[in-house]
Amino acid sequence: MAPDAVMAEAELSLPEAMAGCAQRVEQALEALLALPEGAEARLTEAMRYATLGGGKRLRAFLAMQGAALFAVSETCAARVAAAIEMLHAYSLVHDDLPAMDDDDLRRGRPSTHRAFDEATAILAGDALQTRAFEVLAEPDTHSDPQTRCELVAALGAAAGCRGMAGGQMIDMLAQGAPLTQAEIVRLQALKTGRLIQFSAEAGAILGRAPWPQRQSLAGYGRDLGAAFQIADDLLDALGSTEETGKTAGKDAAAGKATLVAILGPERARAQAELLAEQAASHLDGFGRRADLLRRLAAYVVSRRS
Ligand code: IPE
Ligand code: IPE
Ligand code: MG
Ligand code: MG
Ligand code: MG
Repeated sequence: MAPDAVMAEAELSLPEAMAGCAQRVEQALEALLALPEGAEARLTEAMRYATLGGGKRLRAFLAMQGAALFAVSETCAARVAAAIEMLHAYSLVHDDLPAMDDDDLRRGRPSTHRAFDEATAILAGDALQTRAFEVLAEPDTHSDPQTRCELVAALGAAAGCRGMAGGQMIDMLAQGAPLTQAEIVRLQALKTGRLIQFSAEAGAILGRAPWPQRQSLAGYGRDLGAAFQIADDLLDALGSTEETGKTAGKDAAAGKATLVAILGPERARAQAELLAEQAASHLDGFGRRADLLRRLAAYVVSRRS
């Protein structure tokens, strides 16, 4: 995107800009998940059910906005954003399984294992994850193979045992076994922060940005991810099922290790607000072109869904 187009976009309200991005990414997902249908059609149906037509598309927005800062083509950015949303959808499908959080509701409708069955949901998660890496590795994502390799390696690090999956392991082990505040912060940095950090950084990788700028976006994503998970925990404790599209009150019932549980909602909210301000401060070097990302930091803690 040309610099003046970035400025014109920064004039949009955040909800308008997020809705525009969601539409663009939905198109990309629709195309990338138009998979051949044979006897295995049930699998592709479940992958589409889990991914299309819902979600805030926050991670996609981060990737698209980050890419716009470095004049990356929107088509390439949308493919990366779609790959991240597939990986995220996989994490939600598996997170909802009976063996994990045992949640029947996701994005206001039955979770994938309820709409299909457990075996199909496990396979849909597996196949969404591999499809995400396949999309990143395909030449249409970037003409330079080294850049594609870098995206694949960085998503792998963010999603695997040093990232999301590792955090999910600690989350499961922590049920009923109290963690310290520092341990919860680490758990959340892994299970949520690493993928949000990668989403914020992906545009800089695509745009072959100078290292300090990439580091600024990584720092922004790290703090934003921490604020985001505290807000998610606050919504679980205080929000409504109608607004979030998820069953309210499940974390306390399951004995989940959250900052809300150990600090109480007020101190947890103050911590989330502080982290959101800290996130925005990483963007100082980008000037007004990063206004939407700045506003996103405030939205992440004030959101109701
Ligand atoms: C939910 O993420 C899982 C967490 C990491 C807290 P989102 O709140 O971004 O879920 P969708 O994509 O909008 O449904
Ligand atoms: C899960 O956190 C984060 C993932 C990696 C999927 P939660 O278990 O709190 O997410 P929700 O509340 O079910 O969306
Ligand atoms: Mg969970
Ligand atoms: Mg859950
Ligand atoms: Mg939650």
